[in-house]
Amino acid sequence: MARILGIESSCDETAAAIVEDGRTIVSNVVLSQVPVHRLYGGVVPELASREHLRAVVPIVRQALEQAGMPLAGIDAIAVTHGPGLVGALLVGLTYAKALAMAAEKPLIGVNHIEGHLHAVLLEERRQGRPDPPLPAVALVVSGGHTQLYWVERAGEFGYSYRRLGQTRDDAAGEAYDKVAKLLGLGYPGGPVIDRLAGSGDAEAALLGRIRLKGNQLDFSFSGIKTAVLRQAQAAGLETGAAARRAAAAAHPAGGLTWEECRDRCEPATLNLIAAFQNAVVGDLVERTLAAADATLEGEGPPPAGEAAQSIWVTGGVAANRALRQRLTAAAARQGLTVFAPAPGLCTDNAAMIATAAWPKFQAHAWADSGLRAFAQLAV
Ligand code: KG4
Ligand code: ZN
Repeated sequence: MARILGIESSCDETAAAIVEDGRTIVSNVVLSQVPVHRLYGGVVPELASREHLRAVVPIVRQALEQAGMPLAGIDAIAVTHGPGLVGALLVGLTYAKALAMAAEKPLIGVNHIEGHLHAVLLEERRQGRPDPPLPAVALVVSGGHTQLYWVERAGEFGYSYRRLGQTRDDAAGEAYDKVAKLLGLGYPGGPVIDRLAGSGDAEAALLGRIRLKGNQLDFSFSGIKTAVLRQAQAAGLETGAAARRAAAAAHPAGGLTWEECRDRCEPATLNLIAAFQNAVVGDLVERTLAAADATLEGEGPPPAGEAAQSIWVTGGVAANRALRQRLTAAAARQGLTVFAPAPGLCTDNAAMIATAAWPKFQAHAWADSGLRAFAQLAV
């Protein structure tokens, strides 16, 4: 049995977790920096680094306390080393290196995207279910990423990931956050839009389909954000947005609850929100299923003739209820099951990092003190 301490600091969550054999969460601590970045409607890199510096030691200590074990009881330390904000990554990485050296524990470098993918495996294992069947088509969709992967087993312990498509501009979560900012809905935008979309009529505001030339498994979300802005301007919805922004700033909790937001939104704003979510979710579902379909038809880009056995969805936006429902229903029509982590494991956490490190632990794939942080890092 191996207990791996995972440390994650790639964006705006400082997180530490202990996971046993890539399947049992012994402890899982996540400190969100949302209150710090809310004022700016997005993550401010310098502030993120400063907050990680403040939090990393107490958060790791808390993960050990929650697990009721000393550092000596840990078998390896896993840390995210990219992709992400370099200043933020360096805080977790430097601390992990120092800890590994002081406690004489092996160090394992983990790719953040691989972490999100392994959150899918962690969910099934902690529920006592078998791993999802492979090969799989996996959608990683968050504030920083929107990518489709072809996931297969590779070697005795590992996995291989082939990127089928990616966003050409904004990530889907980034579009949620920017639309929320322009409509005065607060930060982060995903959870509040997820709730508010149910109160609007998606058909009442028209946002066209997202069209792309070339690889149909790519994504693009910057156009839809601009379309929302244009419609908001044309319908005179900016006054309401400014009023909500002012109310949020004066709010004792630092922001409006989603119900307060709903009560302060005019019907046209709620319709626009519903149309935005409908368009983004529809696009994500369509392209993900196309990735699985292409393999059935042997068209590529995945290995011709090889069929996906499951569909995975993970990352912060995978917490979205409409996305989970629509993807599950559409995949079922294709005879495929969708696998997704519980919402708390979709957003950034360190349990997914400790889980992704488990095959590397088995393969003794240790990192040394030269392990570097990378803003861009392919899985
Ligand atoms: O995975 P994550 O915590 O961080 C990154 O790696 O980016 O994802 C955060 C993103 C934010 O953009 C947030 O608005 C979005 O995930 N998000 C959601 C929901 N919950 C979080 N988007 C849509 N619906 C949600 N329920
Ligand atoms: Zn993430």
